[in-house]
Amino acid sequence: MELRVIEHPLVTAKITLLRDENTSSATFRQLVEELVTLLAYEATREVRVEPVQVKTPVTVTTGVELTRPRPLVVPILRAGLGMLEGMMRLMPTAEVGFVGMVRDEETLQPFTYAERLPKDLSGRQCYVLDPMLATGGSLGGTVQFLVDRGADHITCICLIAAPEGVERMRELVDPIGVPCTLVCAALDERLNEVGYIVPGLGDAGDRLYGLA
Ligand code: URA
Repeated sequence: MELRVIEHPLVTAKITLLRDENTSSATFRQLVEELVTLLAYEATREVRVEPVQVKTPVTVTTGVELTRPRPLVVPILRAGLGMLEGMMRLMPTAEVGFVGMVRDEETLQPFTYAERLPKDLSGRQCYVLDPMLATGGSLGGTVQFLVDRGADHITCICLIAAPEGVERMRELVDPIGVPCTLVCAALDERLNEVGYIVPGLGDAGDRLYGLA
């Protein structure tokens, strides 16, 4: 798995505001959208395109359009939903599928509680959205799920990642043998004893949807 941490002053400034506990939910949602659009620019660098003719007012020339089947954007419920708008702004013709993952408290394995995805993902590039890569259980489980359905190229977009989550993703994803890239805005220090990323930003879902 390739890890890309986007180093850009605008990205770092927006992450700084996101971390601030005094940032309101409305501002938090706005910042998440803006950040995802910035990350998506880098994350879609390898999106597949094919040549297309375009008639300008002056002549006919060749450009590109996204190859079919269109890329699939997959937010992981609930917090990944907050990243969807920012991603679709950059790639409006992509399709969207949904995955809900929780951890089974007995087996400690990620468990899919909701799923709305095409049955066959053969030949699809998939973009998985999850703001916080903590233990890597949900993200790794989702990647496995998509590969099982035939996806052949996966890009995960996170806002903040913990080194423990990146390591776990490598362990889970590398043996699968499908190209996988992880794009994030910040690689933080560690996970604390209750699974929060440090310094992090708290619970992304609660901060997005105001249940803190
Ligand atoms: N999920 C979050 O929302 N925040 C964390 O710090 C870890 C997991």
